[in-house]
Amino acid sequence: MNRPACGRVCLYDQSPVTDDFRQSVLTGLARRPRAIPPKFFYDAEGSRLFDAICACPEYYPTRTEKALLQRHAAEIAEWVGPACLLIEPGSGSSDKVRLLLDMLRPAAYLPMDISRHYLFETARQLGREYPWLEIHAACVDFTQAISLPFAPPAVRRVAFFPGSSIGNFDPPDARHFLRRVAETVGPGGGLLIGVDCKKDRQRLEAAYNDAAGITARFNLHLLARINAELGGDFDLEAFAHRAFYNDGPGRIEMHLVSLSAQTVHIGGASFDFEPGETIHTENSYKYTITEFAELAAAAGLALREAWQDEEKLFSLQYYEVAT
Ligand code: AVI
Repeated sequence: MNRPACGRVCLYDQSPVTDDFRQSVLTGLARRPRAIPPKFFYDAEGSRLFDAICACPEYYPTRTEKALLQRHAAEIAEWVGPACLLIEPGSGSSDKVRLLLDMLRPAAYLPMDISRHYLFETARQLGREYPWLEIHAACVDFTQAISLPFAPPAVRRVAFFPGSSIGNFDPPDARHFLRRVAETVGPGGGLLIGVDCKKDRQRLEAAYNDAAGITARFNLHLLARINAELGGDFDLEAFAHRAFYNDGPGRIEMHLVSLSAQTVHIGGASFDFEPGETIHTENSYKYTITEFAELAAAAGLALREAWQDEEKLFSLQYYEVAT
């Protein structure tokens, strides 16, 4: 691991091996049902579109979670305790942690993300905004394994995983990820996690079908990425965004629907689509507090506190690993 000299901001590059976009797309399009993993949404343009989704009036999770963090920061600080090691897997812009830092006053903040440039720029900026804060930013693929770049032995570890990103994992993968978090924070460690809640279908489906069409652009951008990076010839006008709530598994599903019989080429490979055939691009699971607490319990995490907004749209949940 490359460990540059650091003052209060240390940058670590664990050189994660990025998944092969071409291989994932070719295997995902060849199988039935066709599916491409949602992590490939997030190149620079996809991340920009996701930020725009978060600002849409229909997309309640971001603003509801931020309001919960603001409203309950003092209670959260009581649960977390002073001077913890605050670990954020998939930290992105480290936007939401800013709502907690002054109240938590952690001994150190460990943001982790796969996007090296963005992570390091964000860490440096955070260092300027919070000169008292020790920051250890690690470029890692947190879905593979969580290896801490900086881990003083006697400090309580608390993981922060906001945004209901856990909803994009299928439940067995979510349980596996939570188990790894529990191992990383260790006995007595904590997890503060944002989880989107089950609610009426209209509200859920509106959030993934915003009137301005930003979620549709976000979904279709995957095809534009395949065209640009893998030499594909997807006609973006010949596919449509579809998002609906599937109440059996309790998830929003996003698909791209072929509007006609068509053949798409990617490099030397070709794929025939029937009219109405879809590419499954994302699941976003929704949980009641009880359902999620059961999932977390199976990973060794015990629910200590849950906070919800008045409409019970979203939840912030605090867990601990038994000592
Ligand atoms: C990142 N993730 C939690 C978002 C979600 O709600 O599942 C991704 C998203 N997809 C469409 N809109 C938002």
